[in-house]
Amino acid sequence: MDTSLKITLSLIGLSLAGLAIAQSQSPGEVKLPEFEQGKYVHEAPTLSDIENDPNLHKELRKVILKGRDMFMNTQQYRGEYVFNDMDCKSCHMGEGRLPWAAPVWPAATTLPDFRGKNQHVNSLEERIAGCFSFSMNGKPPEYGSDDMLAIVAYHQYMAKGAKVYDSNIAGRGFSHLGKQMPENISYDAGKKVYEDNCAVCHGQNGGGKTVDGQVVFPPLWGDASYNWGAGMTRIFTAASFIQNNMPLGQPGRLSDEEAWNVAYFINAHERPQDPRYTGEIKETREKYKNFYQWSLYGQEINGQVLGDHDNTGEKPFLKPEILKSRSFD
Ligand code: HEC
Ligand code: HEC
Repeated sequence: MDTSLKITLSLIGLSLAGLAIAQSQSPGEVKLPEFEQGKYVHEAPTLSDIENDPNLHKELRKVILKGRDMFMNTQQYRGEYVFNDMDCKSCHMGEGRLPWAAPVWPAATTLPDFRGKNQHVNSLEERIAGCFSFSMNGKPPEYGSDDMLAIVAYHQYMAKGAKVYDSNIAGRGFSHLGKQMPENISYDAGKKVYEDNCAVCHGQNGGGKTVDGQVVFPPLWGDASYNWGAGMTRIFTAASFIQNNMPLGQPGRLSDEEAWNVAYFINAHERPQDPRYTGEIKETREKYKNFYQWSLYGQEINGQVLGDHDNTGEKPFLKPEILKSRSFD
């Protein structure tokens, strides 16, 4: 047997052992949040729908499948569009289709729209560019390019049959736990949840696991993780994501309290600088306080002010050119 296969097998063994331990600790039922009444549910098309839809021109099918491949295997653009260890599907679970795991199709049915994060009306391309710039610590494909067209086509096709400009959507985003951090949230309790349930895959140092240059488990902090501008740095976003999607394969297993604590613990660690950094941490925090009020950026944790550095990780620049403001005045 070649070594890489051996290592992969032993990693799978390791993660299965992790799952078995986790399951034996809490045999309780998996509970996902119910859809709120009156919200509309959309079943996004599957791979087989894309492959078999008789109404798709073969050229269009090719483009949608390319977009899907970009979404699932974004690491093929490492050093071009992506400078960390993430694929789009690392956070948008189930091919970007799953409710409560930020399904991506709502962006195709509700944009263009005003976005609080950058204070102007955004297109679908711009929304996708946002996740490239922050979650992937990257540089988005140019607007109007072949690559941008392909990834847009995947999003648009996922919305097939959904209502346009109706934002009353069931299972959108991750935020079922609400925004407000519990007062008794605890770094130490979060550390314990992490060590017992997460470290087996994501590593003791949060760096994830890579085998022969292939990311097997993505990192949760450090240079190869999402940067300080990513939505996942908000404690409430991470808490809801984690409760519904982690540990892998056991959605809903953590209690609310465990999810909040471990989200706090993860996001109390360093990561690459926010592309919106002005060069001064206090000023940056103040300028984007509507966003940072939910994260620990600029706060002192264990004697260190988080985000007070010029480190952009593997990315050799701070801000992608493409992130511009827009005004119709
Ligand atoms: C580190 C985690 C992470 C990664 C990786 C990531 N995203 Fe996201 N994405 C988020 C979060 C968080 C949100 C906001 C969800 C919410 O509203 O609660 C989001 C939202 C979106 C939305 C808007 C969904 C809506 O409801 O309107 C789109 C579209 C999207 N992402 C596309 C992408 C694409 C394309 C990639 C890969 C280039 C990607 N994302 C990678 C975390 C991530
Ligand atoms: C069995 C292995 C495994 C365990 C255990 C596990 N994860 Fe994950 N986690 C993954 C994988 C794999 C992904 C990426 C999902 C994908 O690509 O399909 C992921 C993705 C994530 C992400 C989003 C991507 C990123 O790297 O930021 C977060 C946050 C996360 N996990 C947190 C946790 C937390 C917190 C725990 C413990 C409560 C945990 N995970 C337990 C395997 C695991």
